[in-house]
Amino acid sequence: MSFNLHGKNLMTIRDWTNEEVKHVLNLSKVLKEQRYTGQSQNLMNHKKNIAVIMQKDSTRTRSAFEVAAFDLGMNVTYIGGTGSQMGKKESIEDTAKVLSGFYDGIAFRCGAHEDVEMLGKHSMVPVWNALSDDFHPTQMFADYLTIIEEFNRTDIKFAFFGDARSNMGNSLMLMAAHMGAEFWGVAPKELWPKEKLQKEAKKIAKLTGASINFTENIEKGAKNAHVIYTDVWVSMGEPDEVWKERIKQLVPYRVTKDVMDLTHSRSIFMHCLPGFHDTNTKVGKEIHEKFGIDCMEVTDEVFRSHKSRVMVEAENRMHTIKAIMLATMGF
Ligand code: CP
Ligand code: NVA
Repeated sequence: MSFNLHGKNLMTIRDWTNEEVKHVLNLSKVLKEQRYTGQSQNLMNHKKNIAVIMQKDSTRTRSAFEVAAFDLGMNVTYIGGTGSQMGKKESIEDTAKVLSGFYDGIAFRCGAHEDVEMLGKHSMVPVWNALSDDFHPTQMFADYLTIIEEFNRTDIKFAFFGDARSNMGNSLMLMAAHMGAEFWGVAPKELWPKEKLQKEAKKIAKLTGASINFTENIEKGAKNAHVIYTDVWVSMGEPDEVWKERIKQLVPYRVTKDVMDLTHSRSIFMHCLPGFHDTNTKVGKEIHEKFGIDCMEVTDEVFRSHKSRVMVEAENRMHTIKAIMLATMGF
């Protein structure tokens, strides 16, 4: 093994090597199998502690960190958007130094990506980016574990429909580059990732045989794709005013049965969740009342179809976050 993940932060997938990413994916498979067969994973015996700090809401990522930590025999402190001094009376730098004296790892969800970088820079223990405005690296491991379970390979055609310069679009592009996939961002040009990031992905792709492509043409993007992936059109932290424009831009890129009909016969549908596939949410209802649409990025039909792997993907958050923590904590 020519690498050592012990003590390493996870800020973006770009910062990890191909070998490191693959190691964590392999470890995730082992950990999932162990849990399914009821083997004890209590490696830490309550001698390690982690902090989970979420400045934005979370269902999956928070639960994944907490349950993974419990399974490993670790203690967890959850700190929400309010209730700590961080960012108001105490700088991120000071907070990082203080928390390093208590904890063995810190998960942090924030707005500006610089904030998690700052926490990572000044922390003496690993910091895991639990989502920032620009990147969502822990999600990538769950997504590719799901793909490996489905296809037993990663050199597949992967098409992301939607806001391709969001945290998910950026991260999926970088991960596809690591995994040797044929990546297609399918979106209006103004929603493609920054040129600089595209170049970085293409540099990684050169080493792995991946290809990084963008198109505004739905048929070109979806044709023979193994994976169709989408995400919310407006991300957490974006102002409400962007809904109108974003809906106009992305309604043509909604994942429908017609889109799925263009794909490979064994294709699957993926979504990091939460997803707006019906009007059974507060936001979904408001958007329905205001703009008259009863779903957004994906139809209810596709979301619930036999091709949908969204719930397996959600569960895989926990197995993969467990592997990320173990590897970076030196196990
Ligand atoms: N996919 C994801 O990160 O979900 P949460 O926002 O619920 O954590
Ligand atoms: N792009 C979404 C991802 C949620 C997991 C957001 O940031 O809200």
